[in-house]
Amino acid sequence: MNSALKPDERERLQAQNTELATLAGGLAHEIRNPLSTIRMNLELLAEDLTEEDSGNARRMLNRVAKLQSECLNLEGVLNAFLQFAKAGQLDLQPCSLNEEVDRFLKFLTAEATEQQVELRPHLDANLPQVNLDKALMRQVLTNLARNALQAMPQGGTLEFITMSRDNEIALEVIDTGEGMDEKTVSHMFQAFFSTRSGGSGLGLPTVRRIIESHGGTIACESEPGRGTRFTILLPGTN
Ligand SMILES: Nc1ncnc2c1ncn2[C@@H]1O[C@H](COP(=O)(O)OP(=O)(O)OP(=O)(O)O)[C@@H](O)[C@H]1O
Ligand SMILES: [Mg+2]
Repeated sequence: MNSALKPDERERLQAQNTELATLAGGLAHEIRNPLSTIRMNLELLAEDLTEEDSGNARRMLNRVAKLQSECLNLEGVLNAFLQFAKAGQLDLQPCSLNEEVDRFLKFLTAEATEQQVELRPHLDANLPQVNLDKALMRQVLTNLARNALQAMPQGGTLEFITMSRDNEIALEVIDTGEGMDEKTVSHMFQAFFSTRSGGSGLGLPTVRRIIESHGGTIACESEPGRGTRFTILLPGTN
């Protein structure tokens, strides 16, 4: 938010921001319930149509399948959107970032192995504690890792490095994937920007919102054909 603003103006803008986020989150919830009713009924319709063996039923089944896939896409966008809306509400506690990364990597191993991606953690054994919202940090790791895996369809390596500098904790996530051109780098944190069909374009904006609400920063270096490095800096607890 603009630091040149007077404190009362900043407060008013912040309140407006919170109100808008609440409204948007509420709207997304309102859409989610009828959408899941539509999806459930489409499933029942598909079951009925599968039982009939006629050309007409097969054509209808194809149309139902298209509607089902659109519903899934919409649900994906809504979930990403709700996660974005939640990204500013923190439940902080002092914890070890290494433990969070370690736990996440155990969870990621099967998927990475299947995709021939080697996971390489380099975790600083003397890393100081950091104030984290664990669930939101997990979201950060998930979104960055998912992007990295999507950028390495032929396999590669994915490194997670932690270290401390002065009173800051750094986390680097480095992949050897397809990298990004300048245009993508300049737009990647913009809400709804995506180069992937079916991508919500809310993954990285959510990551940035979470990191900034922790008082941290996120930066990215990327080179087409070589890979991408995200660097997150978080304030230490001292
Ligand atoms: N590690 C990466 N390597 C290459 N490109 C990346 C990487 N991370 C992000 N990008 C680019 O940034 C864009 C925006 O990423 P973001 O996570 O916000 O949305 P998305 O991945 O397209 O959609 P979603 O996260 O909803 O699945 C991606 O479409 C992709 O072009
Ligand atoms: Mg993504």
